[in-house]
Amino acid sequence: MLSTYEAADAIILALDCTRERALEVVAELEGRLAWAKVGMTLYYQEGPSIVAALKERGLKVFLDLKLFDIPFQVGGAAWAAAKSGADLISLHALGGREMISKAVEGVASLEAEDPAKLIAITVLTSMNHETLSSIGITSTMAHEVERLAKLAIASGANGLVCSPEEVGRLRALLGPDALLICPGVRPAGADKGDQKRTATPSEALARGASKLVIGRPIMAAPDPREAFDAIVKEICDAS
Ligand code: C5P
Repeated sequence: MLSTYEAADAIILALDCTRERALEVVAELEGRLAWAKVGMTLYYQEGPSIVAALKERGLKVFLDLKLFDIPFQVGGAAWAAAKSGADLISLHALGGREMISKAVEGVASLEAEDPAKLIAITVLTSMNHETLSSIGITSTMAHEVERLAKLAIASGANGLVCSPEEVGRLRALLGPDALLICPGVRPAGADKGDQKRTATPSEALARGASKLVIGRPIMAAPDPREAFDAIVKEICDAS
């Protein structure tokens, strides 16, 4: 059975809001929360100072900027993101081998003792088969995710973002040490919003997720601390 500490450490809270609200919720979760995620909504308002503010509060930070550009630009962006102090940095596997390799070089050039890890997004959890077809990808979701996962790992990515629907297959393929991060996580009965490929926290972990990204089910709850504790309890009870 997982301890409360282990269950809480598996949760990365997506702070898709203002700085004020992010720091308010972080304060409410002091002593509970270990990981925070800064995405475009927060980073485009605050820049690297929000990463520093979260690190000062003892949190590990996933800087989820989903880098996707020419290799030269992504190399520079990965360097800058790592310099901000982020522990995890996301980029799109769709950017291809050269782009991912440049990001790896960008992070390595800082020669940090504990370098940031580059996490490649396979297919966004808000997409389904229809969305893939609409952009001209005709293979199945499972095939597309697996193809991009292999490409990203072969290009030097340290981990992957995938949905709870594909995490079991990727865990079997990549073994016990692979870092597999799942968004699209919803407690039973919670509103899915724009997420399409979802599972509950305990299901995603049972299928092999290393960490869960959870935003609105906690951030939009009337009492974020109660929502966080309920998710921790669900994970512990099911483990
Ligand atoms: O609010 P919700 O729990 O849906 O938040 C999920 C978070 O995970 C968002 O911040 C979103 O940017 C991020 N994400 C995602 N799908 C991916 C990668 C990241 O939903 N493939």
